[in-house]
Amino acid sequence: MKNNIFKQFPILKRKINGHPLIYLDNASTSQKPLVVLQALQNFYLNSNANIHRGIHTLSEEATEQYENVRAKVAKFINAKTEEIVFTKNATESLNCVAVSWGRLHIKKDDEIIVSALEHHANLVPWQELAKEKKAKLKLIPLTADYLLDLKAYEKLLSTKTKLVCVTAQSNVTGSLVPVKKIISLAHKFGAKVVVDGAQSVGHSKTDIKNIDCDFFVFSAHKMLGPTGVGVLYIKRALMDEMTPYMYGGDMVETVGQEEATYHRGYMKFEAGTPNIADVIAFGGALDYLSSVGLDAIATHDKELLVYAKKCFSKYSSVKIFSPSKIENCGGVLSFVIEGVHPHDIATIFDQEGIAIRAGLHCAEPLVRSLGVSTTARLSFYLYNIKHDIDMAEKALKKVFTVFKIKN
Ligand SMILES: Cc1ncc(COP(=O)(O)O)c(C=O)c1O
Repeated sequence: MKNNIFKQFPILKRKINGHPLIYLDNASTSQKPLVVLQALQNFYLNSNANIHRGIHTLSEEATEQYENVRAKVAKFINAKTEEIVFTKNATESLNCVAVSWGRLHIKKDDEIIVSALEHHANLVPWQELAKEKKAKLKLIPLTADYLLDLKAYEKLLSTKTKLVCVTAQSNVTGSLVPVKKIISLAHKFGAKVVVDGAQSVGHSKTDIKNIDCDFFVFSAHKMLGPTGVGVLYIKRALMDEMTPYMYGGDMVETVGQEEATYHRGYMKFEAGTPNIADVIAFGGALDYLSSVGLDAIATHDKELLVYAKKCFSKYSSVKIFSPSKIENCGGVLSFVIEGVHPHDIATIFDQEGIAIRAGLHCAEPLVRSLGVSTTARLSFYLYNIKHDIDMAEKALKKVFTVFKIKN
């Protein structure tokens, strides 16, 4: 990776507890480069106005900038501009699919397939939908190598399957999911597929046309963009048969005293004033990621993961939850230390200036299925270097000392 990347992220110069910050909690949220911070400031300094409804110059400028980012998002994932809806995060995007598509299309005794790798955001909306419609939720299990069991998946599919919901990359085990294969198998039975790209889209190339999914969701904040911006890709052919998710200004065509008509296409899903400034700043993040290159980022993540696994697996008390082959892994490493609570691990790492996550990672069924109550997790991004992992290993040794662990 280019060595000037670090300079683009001012927060990384911070000290935490007297140590230089080492940020290894990227699966939760990423840090933001100067280009994003400057775009945000520039919008409020020079272009702030509401969009779509004004006929003055500022409003036109803001509208153009906002709509340009829609086109940028589409290009980034190889979709059409009119297939991109802005939401507030991946969670809202998934809830929108559950409400706007699911309530119309899921009926009693239909089946919804979810995977054992899912974040709560791609599980709980389907649980609720299934409950409401008296439909059944089916689970794709994991293999012993933390991968989706595709043979079991094929057995679950039938003409009763109406929807398949899978992540492209687990935020706990880092497992990569062969979404293209999962989608083509589901389509043979006429089922629609929702892909949760929250962990994958900022870390490797996404090609919507190639994978042919029906819905794809992600959050800007995990890919160098601001918080408060999510994306929902909806295959154009499905949009008109969906109901709006929220009602109000901007999504209506005409409004009478008793009833209203709604825009067709993506405008139907963006009621009220959207997060204009943050969407525009997200455009800066997309440009930055493209300039570095998604293939280079994916390679870098894998290199760091291989190195971290090598460093951490030297210790017999450390148990790692990660697929064995690097081609099946994203840059996430969950682990436990026998006899130490993961919160204590994270606290000791924090004392050394290293930010990691510990807990259930909003994936309680998955973490429980690993046979542990919680895990500690390192997650990498383009500004991390091998030195960060060396420091993490040093912190690991401190945990051993504090808890008198022999390896
Ligand atoms: C795999 C996955 N899906 C969905 C989400 C939800 O993202 P958000 O909280 O931005 O809606 C996350 C967040 O950690 C995630 O890791």
